[in-house]
Amino acid sequence: MNELNFNRHRRLRQSENMRALVRETYLRKEDLIYPLFVVEGEKIRNEVSSMPGVFHVSLDYLKEEIDEIVSLGIKSIILFGVPAEKDEVGSQAYHNHGIVQEATRLVKEFYPELVVIADTCLCQYTSHGHCGVVEGGNILNDPTLDLLAKTAVSQAEAGADIIAPSNMMDGFVAAIRKGLDEAGYHDVPIMSYAVKYSSSFYGPFRDAAHSSPQFGDRRTYQMDPANRREALREAKSDIEEGADFLIVKPSLSYLDIMREVKDAFNAPLVAYNVSGEYSMIKAAALNGWVDEKEIVQEKLLSMKRAGADLIITYFAKDVAKWLS
Ligand code: PBG
Repeated sequence: MNELNFNRHRRLRQSENMRALVRETYLRKEDLIYPLFVVEGEKIRNEVSSMPGVFHVSLDYLKEEIDEIVSLGIKSIILFGVPAEKDEVGSQAYHNHGIVQEATRLVKEFYPELVVIADTCLCQYTSHGHCGVVEGGNILNDPTLDLLAKTAVSQAEAGADIIAPSNMMDGFVAAIRKGLDEAGYHDVPIMSYAVKYSSSFYGPFRDAAHSSPQFGDRRTYQMDPANRREALREAKSDIEEGADFLIVKPSLSYLDIMREVKDAFNAPLVAYNVSGEYSMIKAAALNGWVDEKEIVQEKLLSMKRAGADLIITYFAKDVAKWLS
């Protein structure tokens, strides 16, 4: 054997303590952002059928939910609204007493320290289910920008700490930044869904948020999964327009993109571990086919390794428990 020349990588793996010394990446509770669906109505805590363990919660039950989140050590939530009424122009998205605005006020009243991120989009609020203003079957870019800016300002007014625009209109960061600044919210950061692919992994979310497009699809505004360089152009625009955080979404099939965006831009990077990614693991775990605790941590770790600083995940509560 003496004549063989090779490296002994196993030297650094021989015990748990040795492995801990050389571990490169960690999952921390501080990395987690928990998505929460708030609905209009009373006494509602309904499980989303395609997302076991995820609930629609009405405002009267919200405090209980937030008590749990805070007690688990989670520092941040992202709110998605499910309104009772929809119309052509998504008025409930920017109504001062819209569901996200009211939920934000309530959370801030009880837990001023909890970081509340407001998802800023129109699709849950429009009767046609698209993320922008529709005319003659087209999704119009510029007329949508005003509505997004209005939505962001009303969310900031309600106390949102971070605005997270997800609708993929060109110029949405510029429009929202201008709107926030003019309304005096210079200090409210923008977490932009800078790189958002047109993905089938959003299926369960659209069930949960009742936000499926009623005609066509989102391919004229969300990105083509085949494109890598385009992701860098998208991220660059958002940084130039004033984004403070960049989101890459979905996460697992896009870890390569995450790494590229991380290397190219010096802004905190957020992975969105989306609904389909959640439901696939849940389904397998409920069948006893995979070890949920191990597989979820391995997957979230892969996002950290790919460069994510933060992770939006429906598993946040479970992970926080496991890390305790
Ligand atoms: C709204 C929005 C979507 C998601 C977050 N914000 C759905 C979509 O673009 O159709 C998906 C989140 C998930 O799947 O978990 N534009």
